[in-house]
Amino acid sequence: MNLMLFGAPGAGKGTQAKFLIEKYGIPQISTGDILRAAIADKTDMGMEAKKFMDEGKLVPDSTIIGIIKDRLAEPDCKDGFILDGFPRTLAQAEALKELMSNMEISLDKVISLNVPDELIVGRITGRRVCSKCGASFHIEFNPSKTENVCDYCEGELIIRKDDNAETVKSRLESYHAQTAPLIKFYTDMGVMIELDGTKDVKDVTSDMIASLS
Ligand code: AP5
Ligand code: ZN
Repeated sequence: MNLMLFGAPGAGKGTQAKFLIEKYGIPQISTGDILRAAIADKTDMGMEAKKFMDEGKLVPDSTIIGIIKDRLAEPDCKDGFILDGFPRTLAQAEALKELMSNMEISLDKVISLNVPDELIVGRITGRRVCSKCGASFHIEFNPSKTENVCDYCEGELIIRKDDNAETVKSRLESYHAQTAPLIKFYTDMGVMIELDGTKDVKDVTSDMIASLS
């Protein structure tokens, strides 16, 4: 199954991706995680992307499309994948369409997690992420079983550098200007499922699984 999780920053894409990985045994492809790994490795691409990410701006399309092209060609994607945080612009969506057509595969579903801007700031400022596996938790809404320890891999939970109130504002602006128009793109393609992302984590998961069966 080839899936995409769509939504504003902090809508719950990464959180729900973990359940899809477990249920379908397919990998999550998070462009945000790939970029953060490149920053940690201090690669040229990572250092260039960091400037945009620190300001809450989108990284240039050419960089992102190159990342996805390489990642989709890896053997673990042959039985399906979960795109998380990609595409975010019309140019990226068009590039993905062409890439998938060349690979003779198609997108089964796009799951949009709808959460209003008012809730996003609280979600992002209370987020804690695993420094090893990237899993997301929330100090109030989705706490880990042990404080500051990841439930999945026992890695240390940290605060992401771009998770502050100022950067959230500019990430939301980028989302509305450049990414939200893709809702129409995928609705017109007939693959869009829109879910209420304001429910509890487990209720969003149930709605998502029900919408895929
Ligand atoms: P990226 O890493 O993709 O960040 P984002 O889209 O801003 O999304 P998040 O990871 O912040 O949110 P999420 O929806 O995964 O939410 P989560 O599940 O963690 O991108 C970072 C940067 O990289 C971008 O700003 C850009 O610069 C660059 N970039 C990445 N991809 C790019 C691309 N394609 N093109 C250009 N640039 C790109 O949940 C958030 C919090 O809420 C957590 O604390 C969680 O525990 C909690 N939560 C989750 N669900 C619920 C719920 N149902 N109820 C209550 N709390 C919940
Ligand atoms: Zn972890």
